[in-house]
Amino acid sequence: MEKDPVILSAKGLTKKFGGLTAVNNISFELKRGEILGLIGPNGSGKTTLVNLLAGNLRSAGGEIYFNGISIKGLPPYRIGRIGVARTFQIVKPFPGMTVLENIAVGAMNGRSGKKRTIKKAFSIAEEVLEFTGLSNDSGSLAENLSVASRKKLEMAKTLAMDPEVIFFDEVMAGLNHKEIDRSTEIIQKIRERGISVLMIEHVMRAIRSITDRIFVLHHGNKIAEGTPEQVLNDSEVIKAYLGKRYEQLIK
Ligand SMILES: Nc1ncnc2c1ncn2[C@@H]1O[C@H](COP(=O)(O)OP(=O)(O)OP(=O)(O)O)[C@@H](O)[C@H]1O
Ligand SMILES: [Mg+2]
Repeated sequence: MEKDPVILSAKGLTKKFGGLTAVNNISFELKRGEILGLIGPNGSGKTTLVNLLAGNLRSAGGEIYFNGISIKGLPPYRIGRIGVARTFQIVKPFPGMTVLENIAVGAMNGRSGKKRTIKKAFSIAEEVLEFTGLSNDSGSLAENLSVASRKKLEMAKTLAMDPEVIFFDEVMAGLNHKEIDRSTEIIQKIRERGISVLMIEHVMRAIRSITDRIFVLHHGNKIAEGTPEQVLNDSEVIKAYLGKRYEQLIK
């Protein structure tokens, strides 16, 4: 039987914090092998939406399907085991462990974690270390890393979990142009491995160059969805979000 072209779908997700509706009745689909961009102003609900998808927060209503299975209400570790991994906008390494050890912890969790011995986890970690360009930092303590390496470590930990879907939450924030290009390449290579990606990013150069589609949140509502070309030229998106970024975008 042919696989469903949609790997993950969300229907009617909502999250309120007191009187504030951070995510308002959001539905979207992530296609198999796609890089889907999620953009929007600060505070528009992007991270909250990822928290709902990854089980870190619970949606009031709605549904989330991964490979046709309902995952809404499952705790994060179970969602990880099924094959969904996420990075954290505020990076969360084990500070007193080395980079290699941090990645090995990722390899002990996620889809294949239960089957792996510690030795196997470390050999996976070595591979991921090289893939993400972190080899030189292998023995460094996570707490001593540069911003760029910390962001890469977040990506590396998720990759080691052997996921089918990854949510990247601003893995390029604080990076310089060269580092952004490197991270862009890594995300492209991740997709080539067959992993489907939902990518939150404010770096428009990266968003425009690698996403297949984009959707936009504003005050918790979806205000646009389509190809990068359509969305980044949408007058409502320019008004609500791009504003000054637009200059940078058309360069
Ligand atoms: N745990 C929480 N308790 C109360 N309010 C929250 C909580 N988490 C987020 N919010 C609020 O919900 C709204 C959406 O926040 P969220 O972090 O999802 O935005 P974002 O789009 O990721 O922003 P940014 O681009 O700055 O990362 C904001 O108004 C934020 O202050
Ligand atoms: Mg955020």
